[in-house]
Amino acid sequence: MSGQQADLLSGQRAIVTGANSGIGEAVAKGLAGAGAKVAVNYVVNEAEAQRVVAEIEALGGEAMAVYADVSNEADVEKMFEQVIGAWQSVDILVNNAGIQRDAAFVDMSLDQWNKVMDVNLTGQFLCTRAAAREFLRRGVDSSLSCAAGKVICMSSVHEVIPWAGHVNYAASKGGVMMFMQSVAQELAHQKIRVNGIAPGAIKTPINRSAWETPEAAASLLELIPYERIGEPDDIAKATVWLASDQSDYVTGTTLFVDGGMTLYPGFREGG
Ligand code: BGC
Repeated sequence: MSGQQADLLSGQRAIVTGANSGIGEAVAKGLAGAGAKVAVNYVVNEAEAQRVVAEIEALGGEAMAVYADVSNEADVEKMFEQVIGAWQSVDILVNNAGIQRDAAFVDMSLDQWNKVMDVNLTGQFLCTRAAAREFLRRGVDSSLSCAAGKVICMSSVHEVIPWAGHVNYAASKGGVMMFMQSVAQELAHQKIRVNGIAPGAIKTPINRSAWETPEAAASLLELIPYERIGEPDDIAKATVWLASDQSDYVTGTTLFVDGGMTLYPGFREGG
């Protein structure tokens, strides 16, 4: 599975939100390939979540599909109860669920603003709080990991790159960065590691229009010094590393996995 080391996360239990497509699906498979049991969260399209579970199982992994709207407190609590009930605890949370509701700023509705904040930011709060409570209840189990628990917050290059036409999304990701750092600061002494991943342009349904046609792909590539559009597996590999003891001394940091998108490619010449 995804070429991961099969024993890196063995025995650990992970929840990946929004794991029925795109980056979340690849992350779920990557964690399973590294030996973790994976709860594949979905809010719509249960069939796709079941497909991801079946694909993990077909490769000898263990997974279950779990419903929760991450922006709904009761749903999130129930999801954690369900996973802890089945697998005794949780060791890894990947806050992946995220949406875009794009609009020109002056036309942006309150609903478009709120929906993006609810899922992208409040969702990370509710899931991280539930995970941290469980990590603290259990404490460190050194047979599994040096840490009591690991949280990986899926952010975006837009936690630092302003994005016209996507003000709600960029604001939510800037929020994810400060959320991640503040929680990391607060919980580090309790052996909980919290980090972020900032993907650049990764080929998934969320940005299909940006890579689907040759013209769109060519203009997207102008923003990527490494001259390829990212694959979901690029993010899965980074997530496995951040979830494992290989990164035990890493907390409160954002790992940019973006082919250099944040390197101001427009300045390669000139300036
Ligand atoms: C967005 C994508 C976009 C990428 C790079 C991501 O966070 O969801 O739509 O292609 O950032 O701009």
